[in-house]
Amino acid sequence: MTKMMNLSPETVSLLLLLALLSPTLLLCSGDSTTVEDESPPTVCIIGSGIGGSSVAHFLRNYSASTALSRSRILMFERHERVGGRMRTVTVSGDTFEAGGSILHPKNYHARDFVKRFNLTVRSPTAIEESSAVGIWDGKRFVFKTFGSSVKIPFVDKIVSWLNDVYMFVRYGLSLLRMSNFIENMIDNFLKYYESLESRPVFDSVEGMLKWSGLYNLTKVTLLEKLSEAQLSPLLVNELVTVITRINYGQSVLISGLAGAVSLAGSGGGLWSVEGGNWQMAEKLINHSDVTLHLNEQIESVSHLGDYYELKSAKGNIFKCDVTVVSTPLDEVDIQFSPAISIPKRELQHTHATFVRGLLNPGYFGMKSVSDVPALVGTLEDPLIPFSCISILRKYGATDMTYKMFTRQPASDSLLDELFSARTETVRIDWGAYPKYHAPEVFAPFILDDHHLYYVNAFENAASTMETSAVAGENMARLIVSRFMTKESSSSSPSSDTKSCSSGLHSDM
Ligand SMILES: Cc1cc2nc3c(=O)[nH]c(=O)nc-3n(C[C@H](O)[C@H](O)[C@H](O)COP(=O)(O)OP(=O)(O)OC[C@H]3O[C@@H](n4cnc5c(N)ncnc54)[C@H](O)[C@@H]3O)c2cc1C
Ligand SMILES: *[C@@H]1O[C@H](CO)[C@@H](O)[C@H](O)[C@H]1NC(C)=O
Ligand SMILES: *[C@@H]1O[C@H](CO)[C@@H](O)[C@H](O)[C@H]1NC(C)=O
Ligand SMILES: *[C@@H]1O[C@H](CO)[C@@H](O)[C@H](O)[C@H]1NC(C)=O
Ligand SMILES: *[C@@H]1O[C@H](CO)[C@@H](O)[C@H](O)[C@H]1NC(C)=O
Repeated sequence: MTKMMNLSPETVSLLLLLALLSPTLLLCSGDSTTVEDESPPTVCIIGSGIGGSSVAHFLRNYSASTALSRSRILMFERHERVGGRMRTVTVSGDTFEAGGSILHPKNYHARDFVKRFNLTVRSPTAIEESSAVGIWDGKRFVFKTFGSSVKIPFVDKIVSWLNDVYMFVRYGLSLLRMSNFIENMIDNFLKYYESLESRPVFDSVEGMLKWSGLYNLTKVTLLEKLSEAQLSPLLVNELVTVITRINYGQSVLISGLAGAVSLAGSGGGLWSVEGGNWQMAEKLINHSDVTLHLNEQIESVSHLGDYYELKSAKGNIFKCDVTVVSTPLDEVDIQFSPAISIPKRELQHTHATFVRGLLNPGYFGMKSVSDVPALVGTLEDPLIPFSCISILRKYGATDMTYKMFTRQPASDSLLDELFSARTETVRIDWGAYPKYHAPEVFAPFILDDHHLYYVNAFENAASTMETSAVAGENMARLIVSRFMTKESSSSSPSSDTKSCSSGLHSDM
């Protein structure tokens, strides 16, 4: 108030005029009741998936008693629901995971979220536990286990095959070498849960991966890495290929790290969240004092001196001190000003098709549908038109719900070949995960010299719900530490106009 009264009437009317002319000033003056008050900083998060919601959650946790403690968190989501690639689909009244579905027992952030927010862990049902796996080469099943002998929690993952005598007869000791390879990767990954005192804040994906010992795995293909570990070509070309095709829709030419993460879904104890994994994002958002803007697609992010101006497709304008991009930028059209530079990356599309009906045993050269394994995985052959098909639910001997993944949209004619009956079909086209290469290149976590951050740079390491949470946790620490540095390195007191940009100064 005092400063206000010291202003000459001319200045006041000029300020009022400016406020009328400039929507950003208007927004800003609406935020604080008095002009001289430093309004709390505004952190804007683009994307409401597990990555963005983890950033919000950990920001609240780590910024207590820092310059960001009173920050406003705005989150923008282009769709009408939160969760992003965590989403359920309803097929004849039953709900199934359509995107990210399986969590590993050592996904500690996800476990913590479920516990913290009283969500329920969903364990596999009896049907899911006792189904058979088959590996289809386009003409015949090169390998098949039998329903009672192999347990697969969640039909779309292969588990406990290590104990399976059929597997051992075919793949031998290579299975143990593969298991070692996976365990080593997991041990390294567990370093990301170490205490804050012993764990640095990472400002690049490379640094983050080097510290845990995972970086080298991104430099070679899974095929090279497994050959080096002396896995038999049979195991790599069959079982490993089946798994990478199920999890990443790609071959064993993906990076060793993406491959190891994909294989880790084979250790048993896999789980999901009862009612849908997307509820993790919902709860994180709801308990982090976030102002959520649904149906608000951000179209541009402009750095205007000492703040960011975000414009949405609806024409709304938001003013932010910190902007966090928590969506892959590869297929979304956000204009950055000044322009940002990130390596070109393509997304692998996975077409998830849900069918209520019955598989056609004739397609697989079988007489009875009960001879077709509950999970059909496939080899890497361009002539095979699908990556996998699995039973989600059995209503009766001739009435089931299936989930199929394909790299191309599943045409009606393909579905008519594969299924003898179809009463309901639901198709979802996912821009699912990066196309992995070796050596992998990474976008920066910090996209400019200021406070523009990119969580999904980490997706070139691997794309899972947990890795997004781990990247989000580090991002929250990075933002807090850089924001504090900025605050303390700045000595000049804020002018009235600067108070509108929430105490952020452009000199670093
Ligand atoms: C078919 C499939 C199966 C999978 N299986 C598994 C699995 O079994 N286990 C596992 O752990 N992971 C799995 N994953 C991967 C996992 O789902 C993802 O890695 C994870 O959910 C990514 O979360 P995210 O928050 O980083 O990104 P996203 O979930 O993609 O969130 C980004 C959000 O940003 C929004 N957005 C984008 N652009 C804008 C804009 N301009 N303005 C506003 N909002 C915008 C999007 O709508 C979206 O909601 C699977 C993925 C798919 C597709
Ligand atoms: C942050 O999280 C830790 C671990 O859950 C908790 O003990 C602590 O109280 C939290 N701090 C704040 C400020 O929320
Ligand atoms: C979870 O449930 C416990 C006990 O029922 C309750 O005390 C707690 O407040 C709940 N937490 C949340 C986040 O709902
Ligand atoms: C990664 O590779 C480099 C160079 O080949 C090597 O010096 C380093 O020891 C390797 N790191 C790990 C953790 O294997
Ligand atoms: C979020 O929490 C508030 C109060 O804690 C509750 O009223 C609201 O229903 C919750 N919203 C969702 C989407 O869970």
